[in-house]
Amino acid sequence: MRAVVVTEPGGPEVLAWQEVPDPVAAAGEVLVAVTATGVNRADLLQRQGHYEPPLGASPYPGLECSGRVAALGDGVEGWSVGDEVCALLSGGGYAEQVAVPAGQLLPVPDSVDLVTAAALPEVACTVWSNVFMLAGLRPGETLLVHGGSSGVGTMAIQLGRVLGARVAVTAGSAAKLERCRELGAEILVNYREQDFVEQVLAATGGRGADVVLDNMGAKYLGRNLEALATNGRLAVIGMQGGTRAELDLGLLMRKRGAVLSTSLRARPGAEKAAIVASTREHVWPLVAAGEVRPVVDRVLPMAQAAEAHRVVEAGEHVGKVLLTT
Ligand SMILES: NC(=O)c1ccc[n+]([C@@H]2O[C@H](COP(=O)([O-])OP(=O)(O)OC[C@H]3O[C@@H](n4cnc5c(N)ncnc54)[C@H](OP(=O)(O)O)[C@@H]3O)[C@@H](O)[C@H]2O)c1
Repeated sequence: MRAVVVTEPGGPEVLAWQEVPDPVAAAGEVLVAVTATGVNRADLLQRQGHYEPPLGASPYPGLECSGRVAALGDGVEGWSVGDEVCALLSGGGYAEQVAVPAGQLLPVPDSVDLVTAAALPEVACTVWSNVFMLAGLRPGETLLVHGGSSGVGTMAIQLGRVLGARVAVTAGSAAKLERCRELGAEILVNYREQDFVEQVLAATGGRGADVVLDNMGAKYLGRNLEALATNGRLAVIGMQGGTRAELDLGLLMRKRGAVLSTSLRARPGAEKAAIVASTREHVWPLVAAGEVRPVVDRVLPMAQAAEAHRVVEAGEHVGKVLLTT
């Protein structure tokens, strides 16, 4: 088969679409003939040599895919050859085939075509597991989503709104904020021109955000805490603004707040399967009903993976960039 290989750590030009050995479905795994894969920020880090795949994972980038079941490993039940699926991966989505534990497969929701389905697993599982399973966002609460027009952000806005929360976002341009508004965000903050703490406090009568979904890490830690409501929960899922910062524990305690942080890729299979099952139960019906839609910026062939990385690195996209076989 062919896969996108990181020939050496570096810029987008190090990605090469080339022949590699076929994967084999081990016991409990399913071999998927890949139709499309989503580009995630973690793929850029892997390409640069900053994010080694977990032990046993495929060496090729790609944390999600859509496609058809091509073969079943021993002991797999509930799936058949030819089924249209999408999947949360530990790697290997940028390829013609990938072997994936059966617990990480999802059906393609009604109302979504097979290519577009590749935009769903990573963002849906990330948002559902962090904002709802972990931070416990409830109807009537305020959710602040940093990077509202990102792949993760576009899903967080829609799920937050549909499940009864008021959604605030940060983004770097008026055009991106407008897309966030169309998806259901009510409080719009241009992080290049405005202070999100002031804006969120002003829009909530001084109360703040009950849940913050943060991609920036260190750079926003102090201000996220200031923007947090009493009993608020800050979920840190990215470190685009660094890893080390001071935390005012006095303020955290006064607010009876919580700082949470998770990563999806390195989790054991059983934890991933539990997140996938919960996402399927709670998010898939909303997608099937068209209440939550995958947001796809553009679709490129796998051979143009370098161009896809350039687009995401430059922040030219809203939602997801997909690659097709
Ligand atoms: N922990 C996990 O399990 C997990 C899983 C998936 C993703 N993630 C993380 O979630 C984040 C989003 O992932 P993605 O693939 O959806 O990314 P993406 O589409 O590449 O988006 C990155 C986002 O960062 C925003 N951003 C840049 N500087 C900012 C700032 N100063 N303030 C606020 N936002 C800023 C960009 O906003 P503009 O374009 O408006 O500038 C853009 O929306 C990444 O940090 C990724 O690593 C974590």
